[in-house]
Amino acid sequence: MHSPFTEPFTCFAHRGASGYEPENTLRSFRSALELGAKWLELDVRVVEGVAVVFHDRTLSRRTGKSGVVERQSLSLIRSLDAGKGEHIPLLSEVIELARGRASLQVELKGAGTVPAVVKLLSDAISHGSSPLSFLVSSFEYVEVEQFKAALPEVPVGLLLHGYPRDPVRLAQAISAVSVHLNLDAVTPKRVAELHHAGLKVFAYTVNDPDDLAAVKAAGVDGVFTDFPDRIR
Ligand code: G3P
Ligand code: CA
Repeated sequence: MHSPFTEPFTCFAHRGASGYEPENTLRSFRSALELGAKWLELDVRVVEGVAVVFHDRTLSRRTGKSGVVERQSLSLIRSLDAGKGEHIPLLSEVIELARGRASLQVELKGAGTVPAVVKLLSDAISHGSSPLSFLVSSFEYVEVEQFKAALPEVPVGLLLHGYPRDPVRLAQAISAVSVHLNLDAVTPKRVAELHHAGLKVFAYTVNDPDDLAAVKAAGVDGVFTDFPDRIR
């Protein structure tokens, strides 16, 4: 597989330019594009079979309403204010916004996201988007396994909380192109181990200049950041 990463150091605009705008909204993704981001990171949940872009399991932090996202109706989800009057976007809207302008790092949150995301990415690819303009990840390993089996031409990344005993084996079992590490798990030795296996290493979520300097010194290939303009 060719690499989806075209720059020497990859910057993922984490939930868009979420340091400036309400996270995971079209406003946040537009702002990231205006700041020059080449990759937009977003979180996907499924409501009534439709992929929506939302990070948390529940609505409260972002909308002030209570309830588990997946248990709501799509019409209710779409009626909510996710900040500055912004709707919770559909994944299809973000794909359309980014088309020809930026690549998408799609993180599958929760269970059952695979069919909806496979359908949307397949449609985008059949309408001319490159499979390499997407990178799919999830803390739910089985979701990435299922995604990769369904749409093997789209690259996937291994997203980790900590550092398991054999991340290379886990990555190779899903043909991952990258490993995404919490910045506290990044060490030069680990980065070297992953590089030796041909894997890119990205650190999340890096907003502080000292953290950026540290993970760069450890050799990472890119970062997730809420402030894409800070990464040069
Ligand atoms: O994919 C990197 C990062 O987005 C994972 O953590 O909680 O921000 O989705 P979280
Ligand atoms: Ca995420």
